[in-house]
Amino acid sequence: MDSQNLPSNTQFVIAPSILSADFACLGKEVKDVLVAGADWIHFDVMDNHYVPNLTIGPLVCEAIRPYALKNDKPAVIDVHLMVEPVDRIIPDFAKAGANLISFHPEASPHVNRTLNLIRDQGCQAGIVLNPATPLHYLDHTLELVDLVLLMSVNPGFGGQSFIPSTLHKIAQVRARLDQYKAETGKHIRLEVDGGIKVDNIGAVAKAGADTFVAGSAIFGKNDYKHVIQAMRDELGKLGNA
Ligand code: DX5
Ligand code: ZN
Repeated sequence: MDSQNLPSNTQFVIAPSILSADFACLGKEVKDVLVAGADWIHFDVMDNHYVPNLTIGPLVCEAIRPYALKNDKPAVIDVHLMVEPVDRIIPDFAKAGANLISFHPEASPHVNRTLNLIRDQGCQAGIVLNPATPLHYLDHTLELVDLVLLMSVNPGFGGQSFIPSTLHKIAQVRARLDQYKAETGKHIRLEVDGGIKVDNIGAVAKAGADTFVAGSAIFGKNDYKHVIQAMRDELGKLGNA
């Protein structure tokens, strides 16, 4: 892949997934990882229905909100909804301080309505595509979308291995988003989630991603700053870090 796939006019964003944090001291974990250099907090919501695992909801989002600070200003809480149905819970997350809410379109019978609901609640909206979900969900939605989240593992668990064919899909979506930007001027972020580590973040960026979720790679180490800096060093080889 050549440099044409690199995102333009945008900073790379590192969004640690708190799924792999120590839940017994989540506020401190959120604060520490942002002080260590993270940009956003990625908040994985699982319902034991759409995915076979059960995690955290709006109460926990509200509880960590005061700890999610970057240079004394609120950092983005990037809520990844792996729930079905979707719409009922969206206003609760908006009230709990979410900034960006993404959902899986297969889990909503009315994708346009869900996107509008997120925006009406004052949040940015994202669409999440699983490894085998086709790109046609982007066909009639981009005008309401701020971020496309490509899963590079099957959703439900942290600590899984990156699925290599995702690289090709990232490049396809990058081309699509670049074309959309050329036509409309609107920049849509391209986030990748699952199995991102220091040794593959460069390839994921080179394929066209600008926003990177990493759970076990960061929270699985004692020195968050060291891992995040190592990720930025890899991104720095491509620019925009
Ligand atoms: C998977 C979640 C991911 C996951 C990432 O369903 O959406 O955010 O926690 O964890 P790692 O980086 O460990 O794959
Ligand atoms: Zn996630």
